[in-house]
Amino acid sequence: MNMDGKTVLITGSTDGVGRYVAAKLAAAGAKVLIHGRDEARAKSLADEIRGRGHGEPTFYQADLSSLAGARRLAEAVLADHRRLDVFISNAGIGSRTSGPERRTSADGHELRFAVNYLSGFLLAHLLLALLKASAPSRIVNVASLGQHPIDFDDVMITKGYNGTRAYAQSKLAQIMFTIDLAEQLGGSGVTVNSLHPATYMNTTMVREGGITPISTVEQGGEAILHLAAGDDVAGKTGLFFNGLRQAEANPQAYDAAARKRLRALSLELTGLPAA
Ligand SMILES: NC(=O)c1ccc[n+]([C@@H]2O[C@H](COP(=O)([O-])OP(=O)(O)OC[C@H]3O[C@@H](n4cnc5c(N)ncnc54)[C@H](OP(=O)(O)O)[C@@H]3O)[C@@H](O)[C@H]2O)c1
Repeated sequence: MNMDGKTVLITGSTDGVGRYVAAKLAAAGAKVLIHGRDEARAKSLADEIRGRGHGEPTFYQADLSSLAGARRLAEAVLADHRRLDVFISNAGIGSRTSGPERRTSADGHELRFAVNYLSGFLLAHLLLALLKASAPSRIVNVASLGQHPIDFDDVMITKGYNGTRAYAQSKLAQIMFTIDLAEQLGGSGVTVNSLHPATYMNTTMVREGGITPISTVEQGGEAILHLAAGDDVAGKTGLFFNGLRQAEANPQAYDAAARKRLRALSLELTGLPAA
């Protein structure tokens, strides 16, 4: 992997699989833009990257449980950089992060939908002009095999809430967005793919869910790096991968009407102009 001259933004890179991916990309020569909420964790990663002589990463602190936080992150990246070759939308919370109960974001949206999906949707749109100007460029949405169809009559899951369904709904939303955006970006030189990195990696999200890990961050990290930098996926777009292999997502992902509905809702919720 040679990433010399490439600039990569990885959300949620202060911990877990994002941290692994950021360190690997820096080692391959990329200028890495690391992101998270926790300054101490970011400093430890930056020290590690610098200590190995792999250039100076830039840390962006932003809480993606608010759309204003996502907007500020995009504005800071756009102000600081003339190019963006890869955007990896990886930040997320699990089905039991801070408890399985229903909580809402600063904007009043169901929290897992907001952090795992809406913030990435907004960031991708706000960064799109820079990604297009840097083409060929890539967007990688880190989703999951855990997928639950969206009930458009109750997207914020006000009835019958459970954290597992909310997590899985947010992950399917990412995959639907990936397919939808790939169609919109046809011919632009920007590709967008999503993936399930690996099952129950040994990360904070999994451990705090009380789940015994069965994969390593290296396994999931290599799957993300494959979509971010692999030669064999150059030009491929709108696809879902399970690890290193192309896979089928939940049937709702292939329902064009459902994707259109999700797009309209997401534009409305994020305050972006309708296309
Ligand atoms: N672990 C698995 O087995 C697995 C399986 C399938 C998919 N995934 C997906 O892989 C991605 C990474 O997960 P992980 O297992 O590496 O999780 P993790 O170790 O818990 O790391 C999550 C990252 O997201 C950031 N984050 C969480 N909430 C945030 C918020 N409100 N605003 C900004 N940043 C926030 C965290 O930043 P802080 O340092 O500030 O907390 C951290 O950097 C997620 O999208 C997850 O759904 C994981």
